[in-house]
Amino acid sequence: MSKQASIHYNGSTFDLPIIDGSEGECAIDIKSLRSTTQLITLDPGFKNTGSCESSITFLDGEKGVLRYRGYPIEELAEKANFLEVAYLLIFGELPTQEQHDVFLTDIKEESYIDEDLKKILESFPKSAHPMGVLSSLTSALTAFNPASVDVDSNEQMYNAIVRIMAKLPILVSWVFLKRMGLPLKYGDYSLGYVENIARMMFRKPNKEYVPNPIIDDALTKLLILHADHEQNCSTSTVRIVGSSHAGLFASVSAGISALWGPLHGGANQAVVEMLEAIKQDGGDTKKYLDKAKDKSDPFRLMGFGHRVYKNFDPRAKIIKKTADEVLGDLGVVDPVLDIAKSLEQEALNDSYFVDRKLYPNVDFYSGIIYRAMGIPTEMFTVMFALGRLPGWIAQWREMRTRKEPIGRPRQIYVGHNKRSFVPMDKR
Ligand code: SDX
Repeated sequence: MSKQASIHYNGSTFDLPIIDGSEGECAIDIKSLRSTTQLITLDPGFKNTGSCESSITFLDGEKGVLRYRGYPIEELAEKANFLEVAYLLIFGELPTQEQHDVFLTDIKEESYIDEDLKKILESFPKSAHPMGVLSSLTSALTAFNPASVDVDSNEQMYNAIVRIMAKLPILVSWVFLKRMGLPLKYGDYSLGYVENIARMMFRKPNKEYVPNPIIDDALTKLLILHADHEQNCSTSTVRIVGSSHAGLFASVSAGISALWGPLHGGANQAVVEMLEAIKQDGGDTKKYLDKAKDKSDPFRLMGFGHRVYKNFDPRAKIIKKTADEVLGDLGVVDPVLDIAKSLEQEALNDSYFVDRKLYPNVDFYSGIIYRAMGIPTEMFTVMFALGRLPGWIAQWREMRTRKEPIGRPRQIYVGHNKRSFVPMDKR
């Protein structure tokens, strides 16, 4: 007999089926709850609520485990290239050499942007935050690629995936180049996917570009580590926007906007701004830890804490090690790295953080590496979005091909009961 949970309510007992996940997680299937009990559930922030069954990414927050399609993040970060990981997330298996090469060739074929889209970019003030610009340009891609995707057509789905994998890196590099006051150029498509992104971003107009393996390797690792993270805020946004059958570009544009928030992907920018403030304030880390613990102070220790990880974020461990390697290899000395390490050590020995299981997350050290690469702070979350793209695509594709219903949560109304209109002169 399948497992059940019973609800005793109003003198009756209602049995609800239990769903088992492939890693031992269990859920109460409440699809029939309202029709059988007239009850709904209430769970602000969805801390206890699963939105879907997914085969893409597995997290174990208590053990600090992260796997893409069953492969541990540590192995992928060490051994894979980013396009392999993107292919794995989107299509479910690591590609053969031929599948990888065809995917890359198809992406190169689509690696161009309508020149009119440059006019939209040029219309933004230089001070505009790159995440707002990127979200707008990604949405604008729909205007230049209006064909809707028949998700039942493997060919149309594949072409939509190739198009966004090809065009988003160009938009990211153009947003960066405009911010740096440099000409908007294309890359060298004889290079690999990440190597070409680095070239598009870092090539100076006045000299030949010499690839830097340190930068290419670090960028590859960072993009892999950010590629997917199950039903986080921005991925849930991509899924719910896509559930109305809005297109892939529109859904990803919405995901970029959700990622922008400082509680989510915007934290990597907020971390470096916080570390800089501590440095300017004499490096008094204890003062800032006390601020983070003070409930009357809105200050939070950015880059610390996570909705799911109640242990170390496995990505943070890898990024911390990579930060040491990259800064060392590039000969960069950045005092905020030492401040970050001091903060981490003090927090991990402070009962406030230990009791709440607050550990460094993916955003705590990533900005320090981006900065060492010469990427400005306000571009950090754009780099997060570039990494997260394959995950958003994979989750959107899974949701659409599984024909999941439009996302439309219920609510509990706590406003006024019925009342009659009062004319203006009687109010
Ligand atoms: C990402 O979901 C994902 O998977 C996201 C992500 C991904 O890959 O997509 O991993 C990427 O977004 C990482 C998180 C980046 N954000 C930050 O670093 C911002 C700082 N962190 C927090 O604001 C917070 O930890 C969240 C938003 C990440 C998680 O918030 P929760 O799960 O809603 O937890 P909470 O706010 O209810 O906090 C629980 C307690 C509270 O204290 P008490 O009321 O119990 O006394 O912990 C405290 C909070 O005040 N707390 C913090 C804190 N984070 C939580 N106190 C100080 N500093 C912090 N950073």
